[in-house]
Amino acid sequence: MRLGVNVDHVATVRQARRTFEPSPVFAALIAQQAGADQITLHLREDRRHIQDRDLELIKELVIIPVNLEMAPTEEMREIALRVKPDRITLVPERREEITTEGGLDVVSLKERLKDYLKPIKEAGIEVSLFIEADRAQIDASVEVGTDAIELHTGAYANLWNEHRFEEAKKELQRIKEAAFYAKEKGLRVYAGHGLTYHNVKDFVRELKGVVEELNIGHSIVANAVIFGFERAVKEMINLIKT
Ligand code: PXP
Repeated sequence: MRLGVNVDHVATVRQARRTFEPSPVFAALIAQQAGADQITLHLREDRRHIQDRDLELIKELVIIPVNLEMAPTEEMREIALRVKPDRITLVPERREEITTEGGLDVVSLKERLKDYLKPIKEAGIEVSLFIEADRAQIDASVEVGTDAIELHTGAYANLWNEHRFEEAKKELQRIKEAAFYAKEKGLRVYAGHGLTYHNVKDFVRELKGVVEELNIGHSIVANAVIFGFERAVKEMINLIKT
């Protein structure tokens, strides 16, 4: 499976102080150097983490594909058509949510999305829709003409994290069934949300061969902070104790 590294939460730390560090652009370049297959970022309407300039710089500087997650709004479409990421992934967005909760309801947005996506497809940008593992959502996704879907793994991840392994297994089967169904319908199938160093292994074992790519963000950023903490403290001590 390919790995798309989501750099949103590098920007979350920066925005906590509205300062210049850490930079998601720098993180994207390091992820690329480390072997990531793609950089994923979510430009939210409230700009709580990634800023417009981050997107522009990442698109300009990285040579691996850039996947822009965005809500289906006019503003975001204008930005996508200007910056031209390699892929857009449409996600639902609610201002009060902590993270993207639930998939996009393509069934109820179907007619609107057909028109919405037309110029994006004409611009040669790959289209993916972030949806729940549900046949009706997959059928609607095919109808709107998407190239791919990204299956929401949040419920699986939460069950696994709570050690409800039997239920996690069932959720994995539900995702697997949906992934095969979508593939049969000609869609490329990606997945992501809430995956960690612990819960990703069962997912990969079960979904290898049908899910092409995972997009993972929070857990990578969280571990980067911990892995790098000792070195960061030592370097500060060196500056102070001279
Ligand atoms: N995929 C999609 C569509 C997302 O919205 C997100 C979160 O921005 C992710 C993947 C990554 O999720 P996480 O940060 O939990 O790894």
